[in-house]
Amino acid sequence: MKNRYVPIPPLFFFFFFFFFFFFITLHYASCQLPPSQLTTMTNLRELLQTKWNSSSQDLPNPCSWTGVLCNQNNSVITGLSLSSFSLFTIQDASSWSSLVCGIETLETLDVSNNQLAVIAPPLLLSSCGGGGLKVLNFSFNMLSGNIPSFQSSLEGLDLSHNSLHGVIPDQITELVNLSVLDLSYNQLNGPIPSGIDQLSKLQQLLLSENNLSGSIPSGIGQLLNLWQLILSVNNLTGEIPPSIAQITTLKRFSANYNGFTGSIPLGITRYLSNLDLSYNKLTGSVPSDLLSQPNLQTVDLSFNNLKGTLPVNVSKSLFRLRLGSNRLTGVIPLWSFGNDDPSLAYLEVGNNSLTGMIPPELRLCKNLSLLDLSHNNLTGYVPRELGDLNKLQVVQLDHNSLSGEIPDEISELQILNKLNMSWNSLNGSIPPSLSKLQKLMNLDLQANYLTGQIPDSFGNMNSLLELQLGKNRLSGVIRSLPPNLQISLNLSRNNFEGPIPASLSRSQSLEILDLSNNRFNGSIPNFLTQMGSLTQILLSNNLLTGSVPRFSGKVNVSTEGNINLSYPPPTSPSVDRKNNNAASVGIVVASAVAVVTFIILVVAAVIVSRKFHRVNDDETPHSPQLEVIKSKLLTLNVIHRTNIDFTKAMECVGQLSSLVLKTKFSTYYKAAMPSGMSYFVKKVDPSAKIFQLGRHDLIEQELETLGRLRNSNVMIPLAYALTVDSAYLLYEFTDKGTLFDVLHGSLKKCLDWTNRYSIALGVANGLAFLHGCPSGPILLLDLSSKGVMLKSLDEPQIGDIELSKVIDPSKSTGNLSDVAGSVGYVPPEYAYTMRVTMPGNVYSFGVILLELLTGKTAVSEGSELAKWASAKSKEKHNVDQILDSTIRWTSRVVKDQMLAVLKVALACVNVSPEARPDMRNVIRMLLNTRN
Ligand SMILES: *[C@@H]1O[C@H](CO)[C@@H](O)[C@H](O)[C@H]1NC(C)=O
Ligand SMILES: *[C@@H]1O[C@H](CO)[C@@H](O)[C@H](O)[C@H]1NC(C)=O
Ligand SMILES: *[C@@H]1O[C@H](CO)[C@@H](O)[C@H](O)[C@H]1NC(C)=O
Ligand SMILES: *[C@@H]1O[C@H](CO)[C@@H](O)[C@H](O)[C@H]1NC(C)=O
Ligand SMILES: *[C@@H]1O[C@H](CO)[C@@H](O)[C@H](O)[C@H]1NC(C)=O
Ligand SMILES: *[C@@H]1O[C@H](CO)[C@@H](O)[C@H](O)[C@H]1NC(C)=O
Repeated sequence: MKNRYVPIPPLFFFFFFFFFFFFITLHYASCQLPPSQLTTMTNLRELLQTKWNSSSQDLPNPCSWTGVLCNQNNSVITGLSLSSFSLFTIQDASSWSSLVCGIETLETLDVSNNQLAVIAPPLLLSSCGGGGLKVLNFSFNMLSGNIPSFQSSLEGLDLSHNSLHGVIPDQITELVNLSVLDLSYNQLNGPIPSGIDQLSKLQQLLLSENNLSGSIPSGIGQLLNLWQLILSVNNLTGEIPPSIAQITTLKRFSANYNGFTGSIPLGITRYLSNLDLSYNKLTGSVPSDLLSQPNLQTVDLSFNNLKGTLPVNVSKSLFRLRLGSNRLTGVIPLWSFGNDDPSLAYLEVGNNSLTGMIPPELRLCKNLSLLDLSHNNLTGYVPRELGDLNKLQVVQLDHNSLSGEIPDEISELQILNKLNMSWNSLNGSIPPSLSKLQKLMNLDLQANYLTGQIPDSFGNMNSLLELQLGKNRLSGVIRSLPPNLQISLNLSRNNFEGPIPASLSRSQSLEILDLSNNRFNGSIPNFLTQMGSLTQILLSNNLLTGSVPRFSGKVNVSTEGNINLSYPPPTSPSVDRKNNNAASVGIVVASAVAVVTFIILVVAAVIVSRKFHRVNDDETPHSPQLEVIKSKLLTLNVIHRTNIDFTKAMECVGQLSSLVLKTKFSTYYKAAMPSGMSYFVKKVDPSAKIFQLGRHDLIEQELETLGRLRNSNVMIPLAYALTVDSAYLLYEFTDKGTLFDVLHGSLKKCLDWTNRYSIALGVANGLAFLHGCPSGPILLLDLSSKGVMLKSLDEPQIGDIELSKVIDPSKSTGNLSDVAGSVGYVPPEYAYTMRVTMPGNVYSFGVILLELLTGKTAVSEGSELAKWASAKSKEKHNVDQILDSTIRWTSRVVKDQMLAVLKVALACVNVSPEARPDMRNVIRMLLNTRN
């Protein structure tokens, strides 16, 4: 080993020390460390070639180096944090460990977040750190094999997030000073050592996400200092020992996702704040005092086999209660809370067998924001008093036997986001006042006995993305529909009549349209063929007449059961895109002619249909709505400033031939400028944050802010144009399309691992930038491979950032109405936290990483990629089969790097948001895989 260190005689140091310490000021003395420690640190710096500062070369004072902890008067080193120092095993592990262990006063050593594959022997000797080593942190490394034996001075041992195998050795139970033991996120099997009760100082025992089996040792109740016991996601069985209830210090107990049986011990929550026993096989009833304990904050017992009734006494401090998917019976009790408002915000008791009425007394739960009573046997009316719960965001009452009318008072729920009352026996008409629910995104009233018409006022429900009214007794001519429907409009199985409503054409992003089994008459309007997002159109069993217009091949159209409909002759085969192997030039020319003719016809049809139906279509060029009120250049780049021509840009908007891409929330057009340069013109979706600002001046402010951002991996608007009701943003043109298109399309084979790795780093870089914005983190609402544009095969750009929301996470504002992610990318906790978070974005990023690694889509064959990969990665021998076979076998080096990146991805898609790394760490971890 090359050692460029020139030893300095200790005597020199002595004099040096003496001089400064006694004759100048105490303050001036920048180094008082014993010479041996100074030497060690200098050597360590050489050896690790670290990021440690060498600026103060004359008087290196290691106590001021990053990660070096000294005692109060800086006379000895007490701790070293080499976290994220890119340490890997090839750097002579024994050398650095020996050096570190030579620091006799060392108490803590943190080497988390590196790529260490072994714990070098010196660190295990009882002489390490002069025998006084107290904390050893090897979390987030690449340790494999069995857990070694440690010195008994340890008070904290963190080996979490590695690949340790085998059983937890009994030697662990000899570390009697331990107060923190974290072995979570490994592949340990076997039982929890029965001698664990010997660790009488233990405060935190974290063993989640392993494959531990057997039962919880009953001696656990003797750990009288324990405050955190986390056993989630293992294969533990047996009963939960009643002795746990005796630990007066225990605050948090999680044993979800195991195979525990038996009943819930009495008194288990006496001292707890948080209890999670969901996803087990627990039986028996919920103990009557379980929910009444004064310190209790969250209880999750969902997905068990619990019977009996809901406890009558509920603590005022209880914030989240989840008892769904059990076999609970009886009525919802009249909870009484005295004078104070209860904290209860999340009440989930769906999927049980509860009976009786919904008690009007629920109105006392003033903080309730989610109420899930679905899939029970509730009867009676929907109480008017629900209208008092003005923090409600989600109400799920579906699949019960509720009757009577929908109370008008529901319309008072100002921030209600989702209302599901489907599959009940509600009658009466739909209250017109429901249109006051201006935040409502999903309304599901299907399968009831509702009568009357769709209220005209529904035309003002601007946030509504989904409207389900099927299987009712609704009737009449439809005059108005919500303008921005996207997910689905289902009016099937009613008695609607009259023409297919023209106002439908406003919902240009609608995906599913079901009008079947009604009495709609007239012809099928041509504008339906222009709604580019539609995937299903169900028109069967109506009284429609005329001829069926020609729909694009990707739409599923059903029209049977309309006896007077006529069908145009079958499409000429030359127009069929699939038939492109045409051998003769003649056919090619004929096709071209046919295509051109077809386009002309379509355009003509559009114009004609617009004339006849007078649809309110804001995409017709030169319509008054497209009149630009204001346009402005944001970029300072002279090339763009001279190239961008707003008139030209706006001409392309709404032209089929310029449409290049339609994502879930935006439409991109390609605009060629007089100079020959091209730009993207993006029509911003009305659900974007900037529109929620309402006023034009605020929208402009927001766009200016976005335009000032600078990052090569984020699509930054170069200019904008505002019309009365829309905003158009101009971007640099990129012709590779979205990451989704490339990765899952024909270009897939061109994406080798090097490209994919650059894409991963690029997206990470963009996201870290957005999260780190000085003006406050920018959180993305819908991060997916469809929202990432490729400038080239290795330069990604995150798009649609105006859909984001600037949220101060410390105030944890933001709410469910901002959550609009795509299936497969939405982290599991959004279901109950109902807010967009940074860890939530990290999850979505993890899914994109998995797409790059596996070549699979975020949801395939009905299962989510994140869940599939997490499960698959636990099968020790098959881990590399997760990887995309088209790139898997290139070389050993590549495969190792892919496996290391897979670890990063799995950390990002962790079920628990707290366990996910932040984006800065993700970048570090990704860089660490490259060596
Ligand atoms: C190096 O020292 C300077 C001045 O003390 C400090 O600002 C900088 O953050 C240090 N760099 C590192 C990597 O610690
Ligand atoms: C170990 O390091 C990780 C990551 O740096 C940190 O989150 C964790 O709290 C540390 N563990 C202990 C016991 O200090
Ligand atoms: C869980 O443990 C049971 C026996 O207790 C065993 O049959 C099963 O295979 C284990 N499951 C896993 C995933 O290891
Ligand atoms: C709940 O209703 C379902 C369907 O109506 C019925 O099969 C079930 O027996 C009922 N359960 C109870 C506990 O009433
Ligand atoms: C709705 O049903 C209830 C009984 O379930 C009945 O008393 C009421 O008259 C019905 N209302 C209408 C408008 O049909
Ligand atoms: C309402 O609940 C049913 C059953 O849980 C579900 O299938 C449906 O998608 C829900 N509707 C909406 C709009 O979420």
